[in-house]
Amino acid sequence: MRNRSVATLAVAGVAAVALAACGSSSDNTAPAGGGTSSLATTAGGAGGDVGVFTWWAAGSEKKGLDALEALFKEKFPNDKFVNLAVAGGAGSNAKAKLASDLQNNQPPDSFQGHAGAELADYIDAEQIEPVNDVITALGGESVFPKSLLDLLTVEGSIYSVPSNIHRANVVWANTAVLKKAGINAVPKDIKAWMADMDKVKASGVSTPLSVSGTWTQVQLFETVLVADLGVDKYNGLFTGDTKWDSAEVKAAAADYKKLLTYANTASDGDDWPVATDMVIDGKAAYNVMGDWAVAQFTDKGKKEQTDYQYFPVPGTDGVFDFLADSFTLPKGAKNPGGTKDWLMLIGSAEGQKAFNLAKGSIPARTDVPPTDFPPYQQSAMEAFKTNKIVSSIAHGAAVSLAWNADISTAISKFYSSKDDATLVSDLAAAAKKYLG
Ligand code: GAL
Repeated sequence: MRNRSVATLAVAGVAAVALAACGSSSDNTAPAGGGTSSLATTAGGAGGDVGVFTWWAAGSEKKGLDALEALFKEKFPNDKFVNLAVAGGAGSNAKAKLASDLQNNQPPDSFQGHAGAELADYIDAEQIEPVNDVITALGGESVFPKSLLDLLTVEGSIYSVPSNIHRANVVWANTAVLKKAGINAVPKDIKAWMADMDKVKASGVSTPLSVSGTWTQVQLFETVLVADLGVDKYNGLFTGDTKWDSAEVKAAAADYKKLLTYANTASDGDDWPVATDMVIDGKAAYNVMGDWAVAQFTDKGKKEQTDYQYFPVPGTDGVFDFLADSFTLPKGAKNPGGTKDWLMLIGSAEGQKAFNLAKGSIPARTDVPPTDFPPYQQSAMEAFKTNKIVSSIAHGAAVSLAWNADISTAISKFYSSKDDATLVSDLAAAAKKYLG
């Protein structure tokens, strides 16, 4: 049974990432073989189609992918980028299509997989190949945090190339709405935040908090868990040290239930921009969203502080709820040479700068200068170095695909029933399946 090893990998990674965050991940040393000079494995690329599977199909996420595609064309003119993106944030539709393509031996040339437990699923299923040669050519541990490489490694084999690091526990807020409600300080915990939401309501905004479909609710719930349990007990949820039906989780579920009373009514199919746009348009004061949201504000011409502001979910200050996208070489890929060109591109300093500037995330590499990025990303880079790191549930870092699916089912059921006792027992039953 694979789940024990998945949980172990995820938690080992958590500890290791936390270590790097306190250590030398700001090392600016230029890598041996890193940077643009290492891009061309074969001059101009191996040739042929390179089908890349992601869920970055629209809006600001597509702009990130477009930036990579443009650079890929420039650096590897022999190769043809084929965009296989399937719409739906957090892979809500893409993952099912990918699973069936892999099952039917019809893999893309590369696909997006989250560092941590989700990648371990693909490794355990023997669906992806090691890419140690690419990581070494890119500069290995001299350019990627060892802690992050550990999340991609099983028994010495490294199974993907990380493109970026996102933070999930960010509140995005509308400055004018807060001002009208008389709010001028960041609340210290979830309860203080809800008191502010009462003020927002009193000022005439009926939905202080915006939510979208199920995965955004899972992400909101995970941040409430981090806030209410603290780092150690949150991490314990994935080792069995913290029980999913403990008093702390029950209290977090009750807070989550109350938080939803401040939110709009979402349809399951609503994607994250629907909720983020509510803040942009002043229909909500707050949205908890991963920092891909910053690209949405930028795209809509909004200015930091004047129009919007951001802060860690109240109660999670000093904690970085982490996820990283990475790209794979699937077993049976039709064009492995082209895939390696793609991996060299996304792993290069130039590729990471182009992509992350558009995407809102921070480079996985440690040698891309922060000064090349706008203030939000500079603050995220600093937080990643100094904060405690925890792994995201909704985005494949903390739990396997199957466990995530069970948690999502419980959260979706709760969204209709608002029965927090059943939510807790469903979550505890799910954990029992995967942790024993
Ligand atoms: C995450 C992914 C991010 C972003 C987000 C919303 O799972 O890692 O890069 O795409 O979903 O779609």
